[in-house]
Amino acid sequence: MRIFHLSAECYPVAKVGGLADVVGALPKYQTLAGHQAAVVMPFYDRKFTRENEFDIVFRSATLLGTRRLYFEILKERNNVLGFELFLVRIPGLIDRENIYSYPDETEQFIAFQICFLDWISYSQQLPDVIHCHDHHSGLVPFLLQHSKLYTQLSKIPTVFTIHNGQYHGAFGWDKLAYLPEIDLTKTGLLDWSGGINPLASAVRCASRYTTVSPSYLEELIYSSNGLEYLFFLERDKGVGIINGIDTDIWNPATDNMIAAKYNTIKVSAGKQKNKAALCTRFNFDISKPLISFIGRLVFEKGADLLAEAITASLADYAGRVNFLILGAGDPETEMALQELKEKFPADTSVYIGYNEELAHLVYAGADFLLMPSRVEPCGLNQLYSLRYGTMPMVRSTGGLKDTVIDYGEEDGYGIRYNHTSVEDICYSVSRAIALYADPKKLQALRKRMMALDFSWDVSAKQYMELYQSLNTIII
Ligand code: ADP
Ligand code: GLC
Repeated sequence: MRIFHLSAECYPVAKVGGLADVVGALPKYQTLAGHQAAVVMPFYDRKFTRENEFDIVFRSATLLGTRRLYFEILKERNNVLGFELFLVRIPGLIDRENIYSYPDETEQFIAFQICFLDWISYSQQLPDVIHCHDHHSGLVPFLLQHSKLYTQLSKIPTVFTIHNGQYHGAFGWDKLAYLPEIDLTKTGLLDWSGGINPLASAVRCASRYTTVSPSYLEELIYSSNGLEYLFFLERDKGVGIINGIDTDIWNPATDNMIAAKYNTIKVSAGKQKNKAALCTRFNFDISKPLISFIGRLVFEKGADLLAEAITASLADYAGRVNFLILGAGDPETEMALQELKEKFPADTSVYIGYNEELAHLVYAGADFLLMPSRVEPCGLNQLYSLRYGTMPMVRSTGGLKDTVIDYGEEDGYGIRYNHTSVEDICYSVSRAIALYADPKKLQALRKRMMALDFSWDVSAKQYMELYQSLNTIII
């Protein structure tokens, strides 16, 4: 099967969060299974694009409204990712460093989608399925079916995966002219709440849509930033498929980014060496439990509560536990965390910024990983931490609920709580401290965590089954 994945991110080309990890891994597993999977993404002026070799495989011009855009499709030459990678480059519009947050972001992503469709229709690169990820490629299912320019593509089935239903990429009707030669009687399929909403349009127009965990599929009907009724109406078209992890990259036995490699048999000694490296770097006492947080410092992750919850925990446990935060995001949260570090220098440390290597070391060296997410469509951090024998402390929501069983239950291995609240976080901290005082039990639980299988094998198969079922679906 020939599959095109369309995405704004793909590890290691360009990453902000888990979307990149998924799009950097799923096509690899599909290729290994004998399929021809490719990723198509915007060109970014970054380390990966500077350090690798590309061929220009297509060159053309297109229109964005009245603006003429010259573009090229670049193909990575040496298959370094284990699958084909194509980049859409438009000088002056899609050739910058950052992935998001430019004032003309709407134009950038619409142009990306149009160039992709122009390319495959002119060059007859027709795939068996187009798999779009998040709103950045959400207009493709509509354009395929309702633009006169792409009639020959209209029968290609599409799958739309929602990694984050909070962001829709909505824009005003004044930009309708950017969508080329569309059937104006169908514009209702673009509309939600008086604007053009790429996420809503994709949910309606794609052959099927998926969420990155089964629980998140249910949750969108109750909370999706204004799309609840849409998800209620379209619920039969949705499928929840849990993300896997790339076990080549996330493997404590082979990971070159950590201080000492280890496997299930040597888990205690291995983790201790990595913890020592972390404690030296951040000035912590190695004998105390080390609770970490890695992630975007945003409301959905519950990051706004970290400073308050840690302060409250330290009121009871000062000198008995250490906290290490790695993240970047909302300036107010960053500031509150910097203040926390100044207030409790012996118990806390904060690294503001994005650091892939440090993240690996933290997964390996910490004892616990805190995830008090308000919304978590899947969450990869808990899966990485389980693979490294680090116990996740998660709020029961979305993918966290689907992947972590509380250690108090049969076959359990994590800490779960119900609310993103200071009280629940503090309670989970007290449970972590109590568990740390029982090294035998913690050791057994670490072995249990590391034996879990969250590789892509199962989930990649579920996607293939979904693609195969699409021919029988009437769009
Ligand atoms: P999301 O995509 O919502 O941010 P996920 O749990 O799916 O959440 O994925 C987060 C990914 O980003 C993981 O690979 C995690 O290790 C990484 N990550 C997040 N913040 C940082 C950071 N500050 N430094 C390094 N890696 C980070
Ligand atoms: C999103 C979600 C996260 C998920 C990731 C990959 O960024 O916030 O929960 O793991 O996408 O699907």
